[in-house]
Amino acid sequence: MNQDQLKQAVARAAVEYITPMLDSDTIVGVGTGSTANYFIDYLAEKKGLFDGTVASSEASAERLQSHGIPVYDLNAVDGIRVYVDGADETNPLLQLIKGGGAALTREKIVAACSEEFVCIADESKWVEVLGNFPLPVEVIPMARSYVAREIVKLGGDPVYREDVTTDNGNVILDVHNMQIAKPLALEDALNNITGVVTNGLFAARPADILLLGTADGVKTVKSKV
Ligand code: 5RP
Repeated sequence: MNQDQLKQAVARAAVEYITPMLDSDTIVGVGTGSTANYFIDYLAEKKGLFDGTVASSEASAERLQSHGIPVYDLNAVDGIRVYVDGADETNPLLQLIKGGGAALTREKIVAACSEEFVCIADESKWVEVLGNFPLPVEVIPMARSYVAREIVKLGGDPVYREDVTTDNGNVILDVHNMQIAKPLALEDALNNITGVVTNGLFAARPADILLLGTADGVKTVKSKV
């Protein structure tokens, strides 16, 4: 199977995994990216079996609506039963790097509000140590240069993602050349820089379960945290 087929397989597996959770009150959190897009397309087959969704980006909201799936503002719901989203990297503790699609802040908010976080990823995303994928940091535009200098002090190599504005009106710095031995500590340190909205490390709130697409089929990995 190629990477795209692996993404489809985990998206399909995620729909099967959440189906027993669906009833007329269920709110499903929906992530962003190509794997999440497959999940949205398969979730449409379950339309009517659940209340609706909260989306982690405008792009996902539009895709959900194009299928006729209700999308709620997060402030209009009491909670989210389950959140399904992709990742750019995952380690064995299911701590993640996310934000390749610039949706990290809303993704982190939806994850924080969800009872269960199901990560769906093809096997290329599995790493022992996070950091080969450049770590996205969402930054208030006027603070961009200051935040970049502070990131250099932490040992990173920030690169401005030009021509990208997040759904929140901010900019992205991608931090290269960091082997992230202590994800929790780095997540905190980056978030403590004034001007940072949040960063793409999901260590304080890792995934609860990972559906990993491999050549041998979809593997289920549970969080040990
Ligand atoms: C978007 C994300 C995505 O989950 C991540 O980039 C993975 O994307 P894809 O499923 O296209 O590989 O964090 O901000």
